[in-house]
Amino acid sequence: MQTRVLTGITTTGTPHLGNYVGAIRPAIAASRRADVDAFFFMADYHALIKSDDPARIERSRLEIAATWLAAGLDPNKATFYLQSDIPEIPELTWLLTCVTAKGLLNRAHAYKAAVDKNTEANEDQDAGITAGLYMYPVLMAADILAFDAQQVPVGRDQIQHIEMARDIAQRFNHIYGRDFFVLPEVVIEEQVATLPGLDGRKMSKSYDNTIPLFAGGAKQLRETIMRIVTDSRLPGEAKDPESSSLFTIFRAFASEAESQAFRRALEEGIGWGEAKQVLYERLEADIAPMRERYEELVARPANIEEILHEGARKARAIAAPKIAELRNAVGLRAMSSVGVAGGKSKQAPKAAKPPRFASFRDSDGSFRFRLFSSEGEELLLSKSFKDPKEAGAVQKRLKTLGGAMAIVHSLPRSLVLELDGEPVATAPDYTDELERDEAARYLRGALDSLAEQEKGE
Ligand code: TRP
Repeated sequence: MQTRVLTGITTTGTPHLGNYVGAIRPAIAASRRADVDAFFFMADYHALIKSDDPARIERSRLEIAATWLAAGLDPNKATFYLQSDIPEIPELTWLLTCVTAKGLLNRAHAYKAAVDKNTEANEDQDAGITAGLYMYPVLMAADILAFDAQQVPVGRDQIQHIEMARDIAQRFNHIYGRDFFVLPEVVIEEQVATLPGLDGRKMSKSYDNTIPLFAGGAKQLRETIMRIVTDSRLPGEAKDPESSSLFTIFRAFASEAESQAFRRALEEGIGWGEAKQVLYERLEADIAPMRERYEELVARPANIEEILHEGARKARAIAAPKIAELRNAVGLRAMSSVGVAGGKSKQAPKAAKPPRFASFRDSDGSFRFRLFSSEGEELLLSKSFKDPKEAGAVQKRLKTLGGAMAIVHSLPRSLVLELDGEPVATAPDYTDELERDEAARYLRGALDSLAEQEKGE
């Protein structure tokens, strides 16, 4: 079983060493694991909340996508896309907005901080605050819930947003009566190093103490490293590696043996200037090949675009059937289906011949059944049951389940029907996703007419 891990990357600013070590590198390493199904996307709708400068938005999307690819993200392994290429995300945002308590959003840290700032400045409490900032957590919930992400690796400042996504999902599940959404779990990477910046505080854009990853090339990298603050010990005097930013940064890139050698050099009194040169050379060894790829990528934006479009296609193959299911659940469904789904609506016209079950004994002696449509098409094949009574009990439940309550998961080319969280039957293979989605609708319709028939008897 793979765990679906999803994270969004805000497309503002220029990536620095702290971003690379703290987020990009560990995320890419995780995406290579066989047990991880990774989804990474550029949160460019979120970027609009922070910036209304089109040129900056455009530039930043390109740079950040290129950075991740240059740093080794394999778009064939991970699903890598632009948030704004997925129309299902804003669509889901609205469905979620309609179940989200306004009071929940009032409590969001970022919104509250903006209100506090206004209050302090004796301004109207909502002065200069857009509805976009206010809605930030709902959009983020949609990012996550549209894909049934199980784990969401983020920085500590984002924990509240994941909790809100869970709240919103639970509320939707509760209102519409079943588990539409997987409840995402926050993952905080405790192991990864947080790098100190030029002044020794955590490297962060807001402290203006960052070392750029690619921007400005090797020259800029070296110059910035030379500006890292050190103590005033002279060459020949022993330096304390543990309290030195140089050593912390070095260790985040180097092997254990290299780190030991650098530690010794510091303790033996290497001059700070020389130590900075050693650090620069070690970083450059890792960064130079990535920077080269980065520059090639940025020079050919059409290639990046193609990669991202392919990612969006993969992502939409998951989100689209999900949103179709949700639209159906909230009542945004074909008018001609009135009465087919849900207990609250009117009776459907009865099909002349109802769907039917056919039980059989498999070659290994186990018991299984099929569900056929009234036209004789196979809709479902059950799993194997040891006990025929068990197979019968499942059939009985399917007869009264109804289409709206059925949990049908879409695989790329087939469907899986679940009861109590267990897969109990699968649908045949389809040639494409359209055919599969058509079949899912058909299956729900068949379950509805079974349920109608049961009620009538
Ligand atoms: N808000 C996140 C940040 O600032 C970025 C983000 C947007 C995100 N949507 C997401 C992260 C969904 C995880 C999941 O870092």
